[in-house]
Amino acid sequence: MIAKDDVMAALAGVADPAGGSIVSSGRAAGIAVKPDGTVGLVLAVDGLERAAAERLQAAVEVAVSRLPGVKATRIILTADREGVPADARPQESTVPGIRKLIAVASGKGGVGKSTVSANIAVALARQGLAVGLLDADIYGPSAPTLFGIEGRARLENNRLQPAEAHGVKVLSMGMMTDPKKAIVWRGPMASSALVQMVEQADWGVLDVLVIDLPPGTGDVQLTMAQKLKPDGAVIVSTPQDLALIDARRAVAMFGEVGVKVLGLIENMSGYCCPACGAVSDPFGSGGAEAEAGEMGVPFLGRVPLDIELRRDSDAGRPGSGKQAEVFAAIARAVAETVGL
Ligand SMILES: Nc1ncnc2c1ncn2[C@@H]1O[C@H](COP(=O)(O)OP(=O)(O)OP(=O)(O)O)[C@@H](O)[C@H]1O
Ligand SMILES: [Mg+2]
Repeated sequence: MIAKDDVMAALAGVADPAGGSIVSSGRAAGIAVKPDGTVGLVLAVDGLERAAAERLQAAVEVAVSRLPGVKATRIILTADREGVPADARPQESTVPGIRKLIAVASGKGGVGKSTVSANIAVALARQGLAVGLLDADIYGPSAPTLFGIEGRARLENNRLQPAEAHGVKVLSMGMMTDPKKAIVWRGPMASSALVQMVEQADWGVLDVLVIDLPPGTGDVQLTMAQKLKPDGAVIVSTPQDLALIDARRAVAMFGEVGVKVLGLIENMSGYCCPACGAVSDPFGSGGAEAEAGEMGVPFLGRVPLDIELRRDSDAGRPGSGKQAEVFAAIARAVAETVGL
């Protein structure tokens, strides 16, 4: 494994066009080293002309890739101040260091949004992407259980540190509070806390941050969508008519705030026999697919009701069991529609 200190030392040898080194000037930050030998970092190109920014990026790439063990480098350019040509900025979300933000939402509670979010996040990480998951459900956080995370989030240099589990960086309100104490948040407070968790936690460099939204289309969801402007939203629904009416509401809400709906996932679609693995349809399925067609949004796939998935979810084992392949296919579809 490559040491972050070695990356820092290599970066300290790169001159900042404005004087000093890019480490002493603070241009290079958010170094992340992945087990596969990928090194990611954020390079602030404020105040530089496009050509200078490109030269600097190339110099950083050379310096990092010369380190033993480095297989790939991923450099994300950021520019906060004005005066930097727009085309020097990479395609990325509104949050520096995070390329894509994907919100997972549903109109109704209990349709399996958190289960789907966790499994998609793990599947995306297995596809080689740097993935984070924010459990934005302050009233019923479930990521600690789903990922098997115990204890509170650490603070380092005054920044919240997500926990790393199953290859995903995870942050949840459940890691912020005493599980025995009830939380009473007012709407506006809750939404600003969540926006802060996205913008100010130490996510490092991420290809994608999956945000598991609380159920419904209320204030928290709306504020999140408006303030964070996710690159897309995935809507989870069950085949039942009532849930689909709620899914329609969720699609409409994202439409109102100009967030692209990446597609609909039908969860608890059919029943997976625990004995033989065959999927049958006691309550019918395919409602979400038909509905997606009617609303003109892509259909991303279906996940059957599977007792093994429920057990793995309760035991903190995302990405395991028979449905792992199903989630991998959905994750590929999501990655493709959002341009990852
Ligand atoms: N496909 C599935 N097969 C079996 N159990 C499932 C499936 N999807 C979800 N579950 C189970 O259903 C319950 C609710 O799922 P989950 O917590 O993911 O829903 P949610 O939409 O996030 O709920 P909330 O609205 O409370 O946030 C959990 O016990 C979960 O393990
Ligand atoms: Mg949930």
